[in-house]
Amino acid sequence: MRSKDQKQLARKRCNERLTRHFGMPFAFVFGMSGIINILALTGSFYMLQVYDRALPSGSLPTLVGLSTLAIGLYLAQGMFDVLRLQILVRIGAQLDRRVAPLAQRVSIDMPRFGFSSAEAMERSRDVDTVRGFLGSPGLVALFDLPWTPVFLVFVYLLHPYLGALTVAGAVLLTLLTVVTELLTRRWTGATQQAVVARNAIADSNARNADVLKAMGFAERAVNRYRIANNEHLELQTRTTDITGTFAAVSRVLRMILQSAVLGLGAYLVIGGELSAGSIIAASITSARALAPIDQTVGNWKAISVARTAFDRLRETLVALASAEKPMPLPPPQASLRVGSVTVAAPGSGRVLLSDISFELKAGQALGVIGPSGGGKTTLSRALTGIWPVLRGGVRLDGADLPQWDEDSLGRIVGYLPQEVCLMDATVEENISRLAETADPALVVAAARAAGVHEMILRMPDGYRTELGPFGTSLSGGQRQRIALARALYGNPFLLVLDEPNSNLDGEGEAALANAILGVRARGGIAVVIAHRPSVLAAVDTIAVIQDGKLTAFGPKDAILGKAAREVAQGTEPANVARERSSMERVTA
Ligand SMILES: Nc1ncnc2c1ncn2[C@@H]1O[C@H](COP(=O)(O)OP(=O)(O)O)[C@@H](O)[C@H]1O
Ligand SMILES: [Mg+2]
Repeated sequence: MRSKDQKQLARKRCNERLTRHFGMPFAFVFGMSGIINILALTGSFYMLQVYDRALPSGSLPTLVGLSTLAIGLYLAQGMFDVLRLQILVRIGAQLDRRVAPLAQRVSIDMPRFGFSSAEAMERSRDVDTVRGFLGSPGLVALFDLPWTPVFLVFVYLLHPYLGALTVAGAVLLTLLTVVTELLTRRWTGATQQAVVARNAIADSNARNADVLKAMGFAERAVNRYRIANNEHLELQTRTTDITGTFAAVSRVLRMILQSAVLGLGAYLVIGGELSAGSIIAASITSARALAPIDQTVGNWKAISVARTAFDRLRETLVALASAEKPMPLPPPQASLRVGSVTVAAPGSGRVLLSDISFELKAGQALGVIGPSGGGKTTLSRALTGIWPVLRGGVRLDGADLPQWDEDSLGRIVGYLPQEVCLMDATVEENISRLAETADPALVVAAARAAGVHEMILRMPDGYRTELGPFGTSLSGGQRQRIALARALYGNPFLLVLDEPNSNLDGEGEAALANAILGVRARGGIAVVIAHRPSVLAAVDTIAVIQDGKLTAFGPKDAILGKAAREVAQGTEPANVARERSSMERVTA
């Protein structure tokens, strides 16, 4: 019950965030549309006056006066038209400015909740769609629609029969709109889903470009894209067929109606019930009355696409609406406690880790080992809050992860993912985690701790070297070491490294072991997923994760046994051995 209320509250808040401050401008545009539509009667009045006043009286001054007035009114209408469009475009830009960052934020969060990256990117496109719609003929038609009665009344005043005929036409066209909507509603959603599916394949193909080329299955990858694209095209053709047909029917109906009004008018003139000027005025006005309806039918696809985009934006914002920002807490300094943590896969909900409990104190380092697919990476995601835990909690100095606000988490957690991907930015920005004013001393300290300072200095622009998309201009090992520096930046309390040595050479491994020892020496906690003895030399505790369970946890010596320990010491670089023995004195 309570959660339902909360959901409603979140929905209301999101609605407000999306539409706040737009009430006034929209009311203004609505009023302005009224003026524009009333001014649109100029042509009809002009006809009436010319035919029924200027022509019978043969007065040239009257004709000139009427014409001047008409031109003035036409110009005024044009001006208001331009103004209205400009306001709408600005409302669109304003909405975009406000929503685009939210949508981007949501895009970043979505993959953690089981959405594909293509689906996530769709949110930014939704913002574009809504903004584009705000300056489009579709929306203008919607604003003109409520003013249709002005014209109907005008025609009715000319003659009730003509009014009735126009109303009948309006009703017919409206029915057409409704039928279009009913017929296309199903297809619009499906079409958009097909686009997302197609883009997901394109995304996957781009990411696997090297492999596709090397093993010659690019053609098959293209084929997968082609099939998805065809599906999308088929759906799109179907929707466009329907909307296009109805748009044409609507246009034809409008033309017939316009002639019908003329015909009926002529009949009435012959019967002596109407003046000649009224026929033309009625014809023009009835056409103008039906134009917004016709435009709405014609732009129905754009209208429904924009509406779907807006709804989807709102739904995702509601679904991922972050809770209140927690109060900032002082940095942790004592412990990491993992209590009965169970983690499920986002999306499928399959339990990947169950009931994991352990505790580490400041100065400890945990080596996590176990067969691949056992759940080590999943544990690192739970420890860093990337994936929410299903049950249990990850506590730093007693405070559950969600209790830490995001800004301070950045200073508390250092994380090196298994698959390193750098940002399209400079080395400095990558290491400092895009800090606006990075402290060069901290950047260099992190680089030194990761053993990459010299390597960075050898790069073309040193710390200001641009890394390009995903940092692909670097080797795997270089990327991993810069990512290690990024994890170490700012001396975080908790350092989580997921297979940090998978691409490292001997020098890199030594730097890594040193970095872990450094974290322990300054009273931090390190969790390192690794198999190689050289890295395990720097940890004091070992956890074994198998089949999603913690099957062993305890002091390294006890877990690894004597034999493994000997191997570990045998391959340990001399400087690490020195560090380690000094560490043992510190932590003893
Ligand atoms: N994003 C994901 N969605 C669903 N299942 C996943 C996801 N990532 C990993 N898994 C599954 O979780 C299990 C543990 O994976 P992982 O933690 O990466 O293992 P490890 O790091 O120990 O090799 C595997 O069975 C894997 O298939
Ligand atoms: Mg892994």
